[in-house]
Amino acid sequence: MDLKAREKAYIINTYNRQPESTLFLNRGEGVYVWDDLNKRYLDFVGGLAVNSLGHCHPAVVKEVSWQVAQLIHCSNLYYSEPQIRLAEQVVAHSCADKVFFCNSGAEANEAAIKLARKYGKAKRGSGVHEIITANHSFHGRTLAAITATAQPKYHKGFEPLVAGFRYGEFNNLDSFAALVNENTCAILVEPVQGEGGVYPAGSEFLRGLRNLCDEANLLLMFDEVQCGMGRTGKLFAYEHYGVLPDVYTLAKALGGGLPIGLLGAKGEAADTLQPGDHASTFGGNPVVCGAATAVLQVLLEEGFLARVAKLGNYFMAKLRELDCRCIVEVRGLGLIIGLEIEGDGTKVAKLCQEQGLLINCIGEKTLRFLPPLIIEEEHIDLAVSVLQEALTMIEK
Ligand SMILES: Cc1ncc(COP(=O)(O)O)c(C=O)c1O
Repeated sequence: MDLKAREKAYIINTYNRQPESTLFLNRGEGVYVWDDLNKRYLDFVGGLAVNSLGHCHPAVVKEVSWQVAQLIHCSNLYYSEPQIRLAEQVVAHSCADKVFFCNSGAEANEAAIKLARKYGKAKRGSGVHEIITANHSFHGRTLAAITATAQPKYHKGFEPLVAGFRYGEFNNLDSFAALVNENTCAILVEPVQGEGGVYPAGSEFLRGLRNLCDEANLLLMFDEVQCGMGRTGKLFAYEHYGVLPDVYTLAKALGGGLPIGLLGAKGEAADTLQPGDHASTFGGNPVVCGAATAVLQVLLEEGFLARVAKLGNYFMAKLRELDCRCIVEVRGLGLIIGLEIEGDGTKVAKLCQEQGLLINCIGEKTLRFLPPLIIEEEHIDLAVSVLQEALTMIEK
């Protein structure tokens, strides 16, 4: 059996593999990946916002190699220096006072949901448990996370969902305000919606949510799983808005390709979860924490994030210059960019793949770009010219 047939035979079929499932990737370096036929691709999918430092970044490889030979795992019954070091660094560079480690974005949001419920009950009474999230959001695939994800397509077939979620319109403060009641404990939003189509929040909206939460003693929780860790040109997307959350969640890029999730909490929220309330066997694993510390160090190098912001502006300007009737809108912040088109986006992604450029299409009409943050202008120029050709072809 060839690899494709073996995949079909042995792996539960939950993924639509990238355009028509033809690609087997087996090597990566910097902004490039290679397939089994040794064809090279410029990677503007970036592991869906994971490979922010590109593939096999030397700092990550070095740290992981060292830690793997030192201690791969130890239970959270014991102290672990790499875990403490990473926590210290994340706290030093964010609004959080303390962090909790887990293994993915969904788990980080699950922890946030539990924290919010416990906080609400402790502060205002046992009925307080409702969380307001935004339409078109995405928070992960566990049962509570799909319920927080206000997109019916992720709910279908898994009902009954978790009780206590209400959905407001993203970027519509009145819609959120109308949903707050005596049982609300928190508001959870992505500062830049990713899977929902790449929609940055408006400043007024996030500021308004902060005020709403302050007035009603709710936790403001930001899901920075996709937009955090330098993706927008600042370490956290919330820094663009001058609005600090009480709780934030991270995953994806933090581990440099290794699985990690993190919840950061501030003030009283940081002391809400107590021994026995929550846990994760692998959470804060020394190898993964070593990788994340290496990632953070690179992101914090002088000028790194400013360069991401500059490249993001350059890329968006180039996309806006594209001469294609099918373009509806270019949206984004830093290097999380969406190009909405009139036409078949999956076909565009396929055409680009044939020309050695990997891009992602969400919801059939939005092309999403999450390139490694280490790209150069020349990579953007190349990607834009491949895109121009692909878009022109679908216009015919
Ligand atoms: C904003 C956001 N939150 C949560 C998740 C879920 O993360 P994971 O797949 O690591 O569980 C994602 C994944 O795409 C995401 O984009």
